[in-house]
Amino acid sequence: MTKALQGVRILDFTHVQSGPTCTQLLAWFGADVIKVERAKVGDATRGQLRDIPGVDSLYFTMLNHNKRSITLDTKKASGREVLDRLIKECDVLVENFAPGALDRMGITWEHIQSINPRMILASVKGFGPGPYEDCKVYENVAQCTGGAASTTGDEDGLPMISGAQIGDSGTGLHLALGIVTALYQRTLTGRGQKVLAPMQDAVLNLCRVKLRDQQRLERNGVLQEYPQYPDGQFSDTVPRAGNASGGGQPGSILKCKGWESDSNAYIYFIVQEAVWPAICKVIGEESWFTDDAFATAPARLLHLKPIFARIEKWTMTKSKYEAMEILNQYDIPCGPILSMKEIVADESLRQTGTIVEVEHPARGKYLSVGNPIKLSDSPTEVVRSPLLGEHTEEILTQLGYTTDRIESLRAEGVI
Ligand code: COA
Repeated sequence: MTKALQGVRILDFTHVQSGPTCTQLLAWFGADVIKVERAKVGDATRGQLRDIPGVDSLYFTMLNHNKRSITLDTKKASGREVLDRLIKECDVLVENFAPGALDRMGITWEHIQSINPRMILASVKGFGPGPYEDCKVYENVAQCTGGAASTTGDEDGLPMISGAQIGDSGTGLHLALGIVTALYQRTLTGRGQKVLAPMQDAVLNLCRVKLRDQQRLERNGVLQEYPQYPDGQFSDTVPRAGNASGGGQPGSILKCKGWESDSNAYIYFIVQEAVWPAICKVIGEESWFTDDAFATAPARLLHLKPIFARIEKWTMTKSKYEAMEILNQYDIPCGPILSMKEIVADESLRQTGTIVEVEHPARGKYLSVGNPIKLSDSPTEVVRSPLLGEHTEEILTQLGYTTDRIESLRAEGVI
């Protein structure tokens, strides 16, 4: 079966997490991704957070599946020559260097266009044009500057960073969409273009609902779905809402049986308007269905804390899985808080290829997250990440380099 991006060649100058997430997705969709790394050094993540001495870390292996690796010093003249050949042959150059690094290497947009006007240049940067455009950025900085940290956390606690890597992997996803869109436009125009996904912008895009709430707060002075309502104080900015959904359907995390000893014995429970009668029935409060204080969604907003306290009295009598099973019978939206250990053991995630076991020559078997996006005509097969420079000779030979020339590049320390 052919793959969706078969025939697309990606020159992958990415490192750490944001860029590699993007190119891994493109590789999973069938693109030929050539990862360029410095000889003997490689992507810094190969050596970070290692669990086995001398072996590529899980950090690296889990972000670089289905790619080929070539070592190349692009600051040396003969390295630049190889790079220009690659630019000529490839469709997309993806990079997430610090601002200005690509220009310092001599790979300007003008240079790329002069060699290959069809090439798409795709970049992740911390910020878009503006006062911070020259700054280096990592995940948590993006969560802070994109509005996620100020709106996440306990009502009266510090700004909070999420475990979900919305700054890095989130931006990588945005960039991947930009790339395939530019590839599509190229089929009409014949021209390449620049694609930029700033991390601040990507995080803000994912925090869109909080910008919505900022404007609602400015108009009305309160946010009725937030835990500060009706008894607490609002300032002039969107507050942190703990685990409240803060959206159109109120929700909260509630204790389940065993919470005293199991830190994940909780369930997320949503009081969806459509199933309010069912909720009253399940928790044994049928009178609430006709009680003016609880019968309508606007009335309930004044009593969310006692409502959730009463529902929690019920969830505490069930394990999170028992509660889920009962609530699903009534179409009440809910979800158990799953630990990583529980997710790893989930057979259905294995069957869909969302969790995969991969064999690596140096580390043996390891688990990874496979492609979360399923295309019926382009199934993903996860292939282990490349060793540093594993495909250098293969790629140079494909570019037309002779064995002698490859040896001299090696002797020069270019590859
Ligand atoms: N040959 C020769 N030199 C190479 C090379 C190669 N194959 N690959 C990289 N380099 C050089 C770069 O040209 C750069 O040199 P310069 O500083 O002289 O210009 C140098 O290696 C380091 O690159 P840099 O991107 O500055 O790495 P860093 O480790 O100092 O910074 C980040 C890391 C992530 C902070 C930075 O790259 C960044 O801000 N990126 C954009 C935002 C981003 O993606 N952040 C999320 C990362 S998950």
